[in-house]
Amino acid sequence: MAGNEQDDSGSTTPYEAAGGIEGITKLVEAFYVNMDTLPEAKVIREMHPPDLAESRRKLTYFLCGWLGGPRLFQQHYGPISIPGAHKRFPIGYEERDAWLLCMQRALAIQPYSNELKDYLLAALSIPAERVRQVNAGEL
Ligand code: HEM
Repeated sequence: MAGNEQDDSGSTTPYEAAGGIEGITKLVEAFYVNMDTLPEAKVIREMHPPDLAESRRKLTYFLCGWLGGPRLFQQHYGPISIPGAHKRFPIGYEERDAWLLCMQRALAIQPYSNELKDYLLAALSIPAERVRQVNAGEL
């Protein structure tokens, strides 16, 4: 390995690769800007409160723990199940795809490798689909 690189091969979490809390904060900010502006996201923007500050904080905290970093969501708000947290919203294919579109566009402008962007979008597609399935009564 190159002399001045840290020997952390195999031990880097997705949390660290995504820039820790600073990087994830930027990703979530871009995600909610997209939700506010993309016509496809209007349907899911309307499910959120007018002020997105708390939604931004919750998603940032959740993703920190989910990606292998500190479990900030649980520390601040207690236990969470993602499908359970979304049961009260009508989320079908259109809503799932709108959420993932906001995330895809947010990832596109982060200083991440293409591998990391692809990995994160694929990883997030799993709970997004589970939310849809639970809401549709398929699970
Ligand atoms: C499938 C499409 C999804 C839609 C349409 C959606 C929509 C929403 C809405 C409307 C809220 C409530 C916002 C608020 O009260 O501030 C919410 C909360 C939340 N969402 Fe999603 N969401 C989706 C998928 C996801 C996924 C995949 C994750 C995580 C990987 C996630 C993480 C969260 C978290 C952590 C909260 C806060 C829950 C709480 O207040 O206890 N969401 N979501």
